[in-house]
Amino acid sequence: MASYIINGGKPLRGEIAVSGSKNAALGIVAAACVLDGPCLIENLPHISDVLTLLDLCRTIGATVEIRDGGAVYFDPRPIHTAQVTDERARDIRASYYLLGALLARFGQAENYLPGGCNFGTRPIDLHLKGFNSLGAKDTLAYGKIILDAGGRLKGDNIFLDKVSVGATMNIMIAATKAEGRTTIENAAREPHIVDCANFLNTMGAKIRGAGTDVIRIDGVERLEAGSSYAIIPDQIEAGTYMIGAAMTRGDVLVKNLIPKHMEPLTAKLDEIGVKLDIQDDAIRVWVEEGQELKSTSVRTMAYPGFPTDLQPQMVAMLTSCTGLSKIYEDVWDNRFQYIDDLKQMGAKITVADRVALIEGPTQLTGAMVKARDLRAGAAMVLAALTAYGESEIYNIHSLERGYEDLIPKLRGIGGDIRKSSDILEAAEREL
Ligand code: UD1
Repeated sequence: MASYIINGGKPLRGEIAVSGSKNAALGIVAAACVLDGPCLIENLPHISDVLTLLDLCRTIGATVEIRDGGAVYFDPRPIHTAQVTDERARDIRASYYLLGALLARFGQAENYLPGGCNFGTRPIDLHLKGFNSLGAKDTLAYGKIILDAGGRLKGDNIFLDKVSVGATMNIMIAATKAEGRTTIENAAREPHIVDCANFLNTMGAKIRGAGTDVIRIDGVERLEAGSSYAIIPDQIEAGTYMIGAAMTRGDVLVKNLIPKHMEPLTAKLDEIGVKLDIQDDAIRVWVEEGQELKSTSVRTMAYPGFPTDLQPQMVAMLTSCTGLSKIYEDVWDNRFQYIDDLKQMGAKITVADRVALIEGPTQLTGAMVKARDLRAGAAMVLAALTAYGESEIYNIHSLERGYEDLIPKLRGIGGDIRKSSDILEAAEREL
């Protein structure tokens, strides 16, 4: 089993470029299945979640070609079935977007229940409620969801009882070809929802209000497509490297990001004493020599609140700040499992239900720890880069689901990180 070996204690310094947004890419690839012509998707991150979804699209007939420079040519015209039969659909969360996409295309859809990171209950009742309102009946049988509208979906008013990124995206995709108008109220406002709406509009859809809590979709009969579309930068990847710069007391220019999307994080970094130079599409993050960072409190929330997907990285950083920090996890009911691993590295953290209390500053020390899920894994990498001595992080496939070129990018800013399989290969070459 491959692992990451990290020698910590050195500040990260230099420039790093952010890749395309994972969560936007997942919505956009699924949405591309609704089109009536081919498109070119640019700035798609080549990470395992996205590659798995592209493969699932191939299994239902889509033509998917990776072009020079990494752009993906996607032709949905050969899609011939509404049934996803490849069990890899169980490995990723976003395979559920194929339900919305196939419903829009065929009026019916069948897919496995989705997988993804395990941080508590992850129901899909709101997705189903939306599909039901659009006229599709759902049945659950043998671990699969079967949806049938008996023809074209019909627009309706849908109020989401809870703000859900996945349900908003899925219902929006499904409604693009529904008869009449669909209104989603209490919609999520995440940048990747806006990006997916922009993609669909570029291809001929009529979606208004994405980025607000009311989205209106006027269904169209065809989406002629034929254009190219570049995915937005990944807000969470950008945030992870910004936190890494602050946590190691380094100086990093994080390039190719949208500063507006980073505001929930920049506000907190500024509050605790981190220096920021916010430019048009880059942010320089550094800590002055001898500057002590202060504790703070953070509550995770739907956008534009502090993103839950930066919560583990933030907790890791707060171990280095002076005083008692509090983190409230308001989105997921069990997203503190990784804290035991941080404690193995010397962190002083107490968890009570959805609140973590972090006592700092602590000098972390290297340990052997697990990447329990994607963002918990990112927190482990940052902790290991800050810790004295060597750490080994295993279960790294979780991390490879969401960070493109993690090792070369971190090495480019001075991180001493290697993959154990690369070390083995190098040793074998020398023999
Ligand atoms: C997406 C992100 C994930 C992120 C999360 C919150 C993707 C592929 N994943 O997940 O990284 O952590 O947004 O920003 O984009 N809920 C229900 N019923 C539903 C759906 C959700 O009760 O049908 C609840 C969930 O249990 C959770 C909350 O709503 O408490 C938010 O979940 P949601 O926004 O749907 O998260 P995902 O879309 O799964």
